[in-house]
Amino acid sequence: MPDERPRLHFTPPTGWMNDPCGLTRTGDTWHLFYQHNPDARVWGNIHWGHATSLDLADWTDHPIALAPDELGLIFTGCCVRDVEDTAGFGADALVAVFTQAGPLGQVQSLAFSTDGGASWSMFDGNPVLAPPEGVKDHRDPKVVRHGDGPDRAWVMLLAVGETIEVHRSNDLRHWSASSVFRPDPRPGIILEVPDLVAVPGPDGDPIWLLLYSVIPADTEASSRRLVHWQAVDFDGHQLVALGPTGVVDHGPSFYAALTWPADGEPPIVVGWMDESLPEVAGDRREWCGRLSTPRQLTLERRAGELVLRQSPVLGRAANPTHQVEPDDDVVIDLLDRASITRLETAELEPKSGYELQLIDREGDEIAMLEVTSTRITLSATDHPDPTTVHAIGAGQTTIVIDAGSVELFAEDGACAISTTTLPSVPHAVKVRNRTGVLVTLSVRAALSH
Ligand code: FRU
Repeated sequence: MPDERPRLHFTPPTGWMNDPCGLTRTGDTWHLFYQHNPDARVWGNIHWGHATSLDLADWTDHPIALAPDELGLIFTGCCVRDVEDTAGFGADALVAVFTQAGPLGQVQSLAFSTDGGASWSMFDGNPVLAPPEGVKDHRDPKVVRHGDGPDRAWVMLLAVGETIEVHRSNDLRHWSASSVFRPDPRPGIILEVPDLVAVPGPDGDPIWLLLYSVIPADTEASSRRLVHWQAVDFDGHQLVALGPTGVVDHGPSFYAALTWPADGEPPIVVGWMDESLPEVAGDRREWCGRLSTPRQLTLERRAGELVLRQSPVLGRAANPTHQVEPDDDVVIDLLDRASITRLETAELEPKSGYELQLIDREGDEIAMLEVTSTRITLSATDHPDPTTVHAIGAGQTTIVIDAGSVELFAEDGACAISTTTLPSVPHAVKVRNRTGVLVTLSVRAALSH
């Protein structure tokens, strides 16, 4: 059985991972905490694992940050820097605000670190926010510092059933309910992992985006769990929907997305790529679940519509190694199992298109991308339903291929589709160009690890 550890994607050292959590920065260091079962490759006994990176591509594992206690498992949440020491844990303390799931239901708790995230202490006054009687889904706090003067406060977004609640606090310890927002009218859905992030707009001014993940209602059991975005007005007290909305990634493997604080740069989002354990004899893989490629977010106006653009952050990569001439059928060996493939086309003629097939060492298909002048379809052997998006396929397309996953950023990043591709390790791409127009393709191999 080949080693299937991806090169470009973070995976837990052992055991299970789901959502990214507590995304924060200290100096040049990017911190990733994540939903983690250290003991088994399945969800359960959830802790916060911890890793850091200097470039969002190479990650260093650290000891577990938060472990379950009598209030329960450590669910998803965020980290803030308490520069003004409002909570009394020390100036500049990192404070984690997260859900605990246990005997009191889904409550919100605090932990703090005064050594830049290396070690953590649970606040002894937990929980800081408990659900009202009978409320089951009450989780995934995202806290931001908002406002000036007397209106300056910590503001928490909390996923509560079909709604996002806004709560406010001066000290992170005491919270009062402020308002309730329902971004998605579909009955019976459950919202998870809200995030609120200022994204540079078309004229440079930031626009607030609410990100949220949706578990579809039982009646829509066949539809996917997706991350949505919604442009909002936000005054620190309530969220008000502005027109534009969209899906962050159309594929089956991008969920529970959160952003790192922007620090003046466009913000960076990551999601959890859910995956199934390979059902193959002799499987000795010690881990399950991976982080998506980090993506920088900007907003653009196209044909009058606000469009969310994602550009993958890929760390160091070797120089382009292949160029493919137009109107050709070619097979390109991937130098190594992790590679970044860039395709560029002019606007496609009606009935024209191209296909890109990813194959393993035996020549069997792992994934197939089909692009025509009206739609893009990505299918993968381990996902029975292909993803089809109505799009024109023009502009630059970046395909991040790694052991076990493919992420597609088409139309200059306006259309993202991510899928796991277990259990195969990619070996080559076959491109069939039926466009009649130039398709320029370059393959670069990642240098990480
Ligand atoms: C999303 C989620 C969160 C929850 C966590 C538990 O995938 O269900 O709502 O906090 O995972 O692991």
